[in-house]
Amino acid sequence: MLTAEQIRHRYGTRDALVLDAFAGAPNESWLILGQSGNGKTTLLHILAGLIRPTAGKVIINRQDLGALSGFRLDRFRGRTIGFVPQQLHLIGSLSVTANLALARYLAGLPADAARITRVLKDLGIEDRADALPTALSHGQAQRVAVARAVINAPAVIHRG
Ligand SMILES: Nc1ncnc2c1ncn2[C@@H]1O[C@H](COP(=O)(O)OP(=O)(O)OP(=O)(O)O)[C@@H](O)[C@H]1O
Ligand SMILES: [Mg+2]
Repeated sequence: MLTAEQIRHRYGTRDALVLDAFAGAPNESWLILGQSGNGKTTLLHILAGLIRPTAGKVIINRQDLGALSGFRLDRFRGRTIGFVPQQLHLIGSLSVTANLALARYLAGLPADAARITRVLKDLGIEDRADALPTALSHGQAQRVAVARAVINAPAVIHRG
């Protein structure tokens, strides 16, 4: 379902990451451990299609990420990959509900208020649905970022 082959990434002339092969199957969870600076964030960004590797291939659900660019890559990412970044990047001027509605809209998916309510309920933050991100506790804000990562029912979820 997710495979990476012969991945190499360079910033400038230095190799930041060399990875021969990786394969993930449905319902598997992987924990990536490694010393500071050994390429974990670089790998996650490559597997999420956020940066293009200098060489190598990432395939998710039979789609080669390298064959997509611009709008088509953004849409594939929005629909297929959920990403929980270390910096949460919630939109400060939008309510919790509107942040989640925006994630569906940007992926070209139909509005689904019932799904938003259900996901917020599953994460125990339905009472904060109308709050702005600045009015949330840190743990609540993290759960909103998790909600945003799962709202489009992606095939893969990355947690930075
Ligand atoms: N934008 C960049 N430009 C140049 N070098 C970079 C850039 N981003 C990362 N690097 C370098 O690439 C290497 C891998 O960085 P990366 O952020 O992937 O490491 P990491 O394993 O996530 O580290 P940490 O555990 O500290 O978060 C490091 O040596 C880092 O200094
Ligand atoms: Mg990192």
